[in-house]
Amino acid sequence: MNNALDPRIQKLREMRALSQLGGGEEKLKQHRAKGRLTARERIDLLLDPGSFREIDAFVTNRQNGIGMSNQHLLTDGVVTGWGTIDGRLVYVYSQDFTVMGGSLGAAHASKITKIQDMALKNGAPIIGLNDSGGARIQEGLMSLVGYSEIFLRNTLASGVIPQISAIMGPCAGGAVYSPALTDFIFMVKNTSYMFLTGPDVVKAVTHEDVTFETLGGAMVHNTTSGVAHFAAESEGDCLYMIRRLLSYLPSNNMEDPPMVKPKDDPLRTDEALDSIVPDNPNKPYDMKEVINRVVDEGSFFEVQEHYATNIIIGFARLGGQSVGIVANQPAVLAGVLDINASEKAARFVRFCDCFNIPIITFEDVPGFLPGVAQEHGGIIRSGAKLLYAYCEATVPKINVITRKAYGGAYCVLSPRATRGDLVLAWPSAELAVMGADGAVSIIYRRELSLAEDPAAKRAELVRQYQEEVTNPWVAAQYGFIDDIIEPHDTRPRLINALRMLRNKRDSNPPRKHGNIPL
Ligand code: HXC
Repeated sequence: MNNALDPRIQKLREMRALSQLGGGEEKLKQHRAKGRLTARERIDLLLDPGSFREIDAFVTNRQNGIGMSNQHLLTDGVVTGWGTIDGRLVYVYSQDFTVMGGSLGAAHASKITKIQDMALKNGAPIIGLNDSGGARIQEGLMSLVGYSEIFLRNTLASGVIPQISAIMGPCAGGAVYSPALTDFIFMVKNTSYMFLTGPDVVKAVTHEDVTFETLGGAMVHNTTSGVAHFAAESEGDCLYMIRRLLSYLPSNNMEDPPMVKPKDDPLRTDEALDSIVPDNPNKPYDMKEVINRVVDEGSFFEVQEHYATNIIIGFARLGGQSVGIVANQPAVLAGVLDINASEKAARFVRFCDCFNIPIITFEDVPGFLPGVAQEHGGIIRSGAKLLYAYCEATVPKINVITRKAYGGAYCVLSPRATRGDLVLAWPSAELAVMGADGAVSIIYRRELSLAEDPAAKRAELVRQYQEEVTNPWVAAQYGFIDDIIEPHDTRPRLINALRMLRNKRDSNPPRKHGNIPL
């Protein structure tokens, strides 16, 4: 009997081994020496063990143009395929920096678009692990065409399947625009960067001295630009966070998010909530404590934690059901709505609406932030984005007013009049056009100027206004709020409301698409 290996199988094994090496042993060594995982190691950490199936491992670059000296680059710098996360199908591409800096040529682009097409057709999320110097300069226009094909697919898949991007290295040019079109961007502290043009070009054009870190590091994009949504401590942490995010999301827009068997008692009450709102309306408290006490224990997963911290957004579970949380944060700028907070929340509300995730809003907002910078920066347009997003959303919308619901901000944050499904108020709620102090200054200007003791008169008028206007009872009389609840009951009331709204059907008029004030 001849035990010699079939030479064709031998060749297959050799080719596969070669393809696994990406840019070769030496480049892999250099890459690891920078403390980075390889494209394949990242996939292995992201997916359920052994679930990855690669395709297009034998694709090579299509052009051997200027400076390429007839190289044949196996994989062309990107590893593509599918696998599972918690047993659920996902598609993935992982750029290999050891192959020409993960730069994108025509073949590399075709591999990504193939995976994008498969993800869309089969209704499963796509995760891009980006590590690329952008358009492969040697392939010229071919790489720009490749990027354009990717951008088109990002756009067509938007709102149909979740699209998640992780930035795992220095990403430049086109390599940041595809992530920007996706739903969530993860970055890794100290090792990942995003910029259109690097520090050298910036220096040449604007004479500004910047480093990779100060131009486009993880914290810059998580705190200042708001481009990124998550900052991970390490690559492993980043990949774990992606798995966690997906646990809240459906695979596509035709499905509901996965239900998890709740470990936390749906009827659990929390007496600490009864005294969390200070008596003094100008005193802050931490809305994150409210959220964490109400949702299933340990389930709150904050999004954009470092950006526009006057508003809080994130996913959580209530009775095992995924929800999106939007909450004013009275501990930062009194929870006021400004440009950045409005845009942050608007995009999140739209994401939840795309993917059938009910929205719970915790409201304590003194209004929009006044000022020249805000007006000239377009707060009118930005506030309108949030207003539009809430009005348009047809998923269940439940609102808990913990304290202030003032002015335009009241109208924005999902009141009954804009199709809010249920509005619950705590006894500490204050619903009015504005706070008592401001209102008294305007409507009692004459009385105050004539008063013998203006301070005492003001105090009396403020008290009167608070008793008669800024309380939940007027709103309850008109049915603008559906119920006043004891704060400790918030969790069971919300879980009950979600069950009541489970079969909610609502829609918008037929149209090509609306025109959100971008
Ligand atoms: C071809 C590239 C490349 C690129 C990097 N490389 N970027 N090759 N095209 N775009 C190659 C390098 O020549 C090098 O090859 C290897 O990848 C590693 O790169 P290094 O520079 O040694 O690494 P590092 O110092 O870590 O710097 C990484 C980097 C830098 C910041 C990404 O390489 C860089 O600035 N690259 C150019 C970025 C850029 O301008 N891209 C085009 C953008 S235009 P060797 O052989 O030496 O190992 C664009 C248009 C699309 O993308 C726009 C759509 C809207």
